[in-house]
Amino acid sequence: MSKIALVTGVTSGFGLAITKTLINNGYLVIGTGRRLPKLNELKQQFQEKFIPLNFDIQNLPETQQAFNSIPQEYQNIDLLVNNAGLALGLEVANKANLDDWQNMVDTNIKGLMFMTRLVLPNMVERNTGHIINIGSIAGTYPYPGGNVYGATKAFVKQFSLNLRADLAGKNIRVSNVEPGLCGETDFSLVRFKGDEQKAQNLYENVNYIKPEDIANIVLWLNQQPSHVNINSIEIMPTAQTFSALNVSKKNN
Ligand SMILES: NC(=O)c1ccc[n+]([C@@H]2O[C@H](COP(=O)([O-])OP(=O)(O)OC[C@H]3O[C@@H](n4cnc5c(N)ncnc54)[C@H](OP(=O)(O)O)[C@@H]3O)[C@@H](O)[C@H]2O)c1
Repeated sequence: MSKIALVTGVTSGFGLAITKTLINNGYLVIGTGRRLPKLNELKQQFQEKFIPLNFDIQNLPETQQAFNSIPQEYQNIDLLVNNAGLALGLEVANKANLDDWQNMVDTNIKGLMFMTRLVLPNMVERNTGHIINIGSIAGTYPYPGGNVYGATKAFVKQFSLNLRADLAGKNIRVSNVEPGLCGETDFSLVRFKGDEQKAQNLYENVNYIKPEDIANIVLWLNQQPSHVNINSIEIMPTAQTFSALNVSKKNN
């Protein structure tokens, strides 16, 4: 029997690549997002192997309603990939837009929390399952302008570990995937609010990670024997490394 995966944010980027990779490897995918035409395209392409769920993950009643609409035969979810998320703006904290901050908290923290709480009881009841959260290196390493985005991914990191603590004695896995710079997604276009030039500049002449690289890692994590839990995995392109610690000199 095919494994059933629920993947959030499948309308572009990682989620889209993860959906294709999982389906190509025999999974059935329930895929979520707000952009209905993109969900319809996936339905057309993958037919009975893909179930679209169209809702805003920030909205709990909408999320619950969508979750409850999953057909009976797809309700035993084996793999939840909490991928939907976004970064907004790159302003320093004293100048950042407060609406952007709320939007990131509502999506990256609350949305991930809602989905996890909805899916987990059935996994516990069946004593099987795997939750793969898409965190970020931004949850570990600070950078200027990363303020709330990085903090939401630090939540994802700690929430993943705390879930493992709650699931002691259960055969349920939780992994946090922490990618670095990855191109060919809508991430930077969303961050810079549609400014294509700014978004493109970031990736120019850089050999960045591709969504397919992350999709392969997600598949590999789930393919490990069911008693093997990879807690976290951090991925960077070789083009990305670390800066020196910042020391400010006195002006005298
Ligand atoms: N690209 C990178 O460099 C990078 C690095 C590290 C981590 N990440 C993380 O990877 C994940 C995927 O990002 P990506 O790079 O693939 O970006 P992306 O192409 O912009 O994809 C984001 C996905 O999240 C969905 N989403 C956003 N807000 C939503 C909402 N309120 N309700 C429902 N769905 C929502 C979007 O769907 P709709 O717009 O259709 O709703 C879209 O499918 C995010 O969690 C991001 O933080 C990305």
